[in-house]
Amino acid sequence: MAIRLGDIAPDFTADTTQGTISFHEWLGDSWGVLFSHPKDFTPVCTTELGYVARIKPEFDKRNVKVIGLSVDSVESHNKWEGDIGETQGTPVNFPMIGDPDRTVSDLYDMIHPNANDTLTVRSVFVIGPDKKVKLTITYPASTGRNFDEILRVIDSLQLTAKYKVATPVNWTDGNDVIIGAAVSDDEAKTLFPNGWKTVKPYLRVLPQPGK
Ligand code: BEZ
Repeated sequence: MAIRLGDIAPDFTADTTQGTISFHEWLGDSWGVLFSHPKDFTPVCTTELGYVARIKPEFDKRNVKVIGLSVDSVESHNKWEGDIGETQGTPVNFPMIGDPDRTVSDLYDMIHPNANDTLTVRSVFVIGPDKKVKLTITYPASTGRNFDEILRVIDSLQLTAKYKVATPVNWTDGNDVIIGAAVSDDEAKTLFPNGWKTVKPYLRVLPQPGK
């Protein structure tokens, strides 16, 4: 069954390029990004994995652990990692799950048979410290992901977990935010004593709290 927002991310134990990992235990109190790619030694995947390695410090800064997956073996991942480091400039610095028996792929519904019945699609799951799924995105094999967008969403998820706000279209860290629809003006006066701008009664804008 498809995994929905708010579900507990299914736990599993799997072989990875950094040894055996029990997923929930490995996550600990961190946020997590679990993402699949269709196949090792393929061009788009090579660029994606290299880019994730390059921006790993950005995930670290946000207390986010990153882990990749495909239905290839750990041995295959290990061989491919040499090419990724050589061609993309940064060695792979996060674990990659080998899932040749598709245990994790099936658990997370990462194989979409009408797209391809043997390879994983480009799935992304962002998981909170409460182990609940906060974001799911699915891309086809032919389209490389924008991992800067994943970081942007994580910024929003972490901000909205801390404050009763929402982030508007194309928001990035530091920009104005919106007071959550469920927050009354009376409550907002307590939460945001420096005030806000009422554009419409349902559209109340204020500078990003905590900045
Ligand atoms: C790629 O990464 O380039 C790719 C992988 C599987 C199918 C199509 C493209």
